[in-house]
Amino acid sequence: MQTAPFVDLSVHHKPVDFSDRVAFGFTKAMRFCADTFFAKRYGHRAIVLETVAAVPGMVGATLTHLKCLRRMCDDQGWIRTLMEEAENERMHLMTFIEVAHPTLFERLVILAVQWVFYLAFFGLYLVSARTAHRVVGYFEEEAVVSYTLYLEELDSGRSPDLPAPEIARHYWKLGADATLRDVVLVVRADEAHHRDVNHGFACELAGREVDPAHHAPYPEHADDIRMAA
Ligand SMILES: [Fe+2]
Ligand SMILES: [Fe+2]
Repeated sequence: MQTAPFVDLSVHHKPVDFSDRVAFGFTKAMRFCADTFFAKRYGHRAIVLETVAAVPGMVGATLTHLKCLRRMCDDQGWIRTLMEEAENERMHLMTFIEVAHPTLFERLVILAVQWVFYLAFFGLYLVSARTAHRVVGYFEEEAVVSYTLYLEELDSGRSPDLPAPEIARHYWKLGADATLRDVVLVVRADEAHHRDVNHGFACELAGREVDPAHHAPYPEHADDIRMAA
């Protein structure tokens, strides 16, 4: 049974140029919208935002794949990393759907946001892959904050610490007595890992040094995400 790896909550990439400032400003605007819309409904917040979080990895993988075909060059492992990120975010969604149930209005929001966000992120990635990865790095910084608040909510008893859903126990290799708190800890560690990977990619594309201290470990995941029937 695994325990969640340590998460450094202090990691923040300070914006250093125009591209970073655009990414940071956009992220803060999105955070304001999410805080206004969801307040402290963390289960619902997780579901809606995970439907968005699973998009950038697949867009990045697609466009990196196409670029490597055109330029006939190696991807340096980026495509698999980004596809895995998309899958991991989808597993977050499949986990939280066992914990909370989106309202009809939230389902409509998910439909509308997917259209807008997929097209906008695709366009941004074409124009500036570096800014796109920086946006994801900042989104993930916010995800780490949100899941830390979710943990406080569980620890204070304001939300019940339910048994972990079976799909989560399988995917993160948790023990039979694992609870929602254990799940939120490993999900937060996933987000911290994505944060550092995406800030690292943005730095690489900008030709800047990647801070070796910013390398959050990834929790272990099941090789086969489908559970045996
Ligand atoms: Fe996530
Ligand atoms: Fe994430």
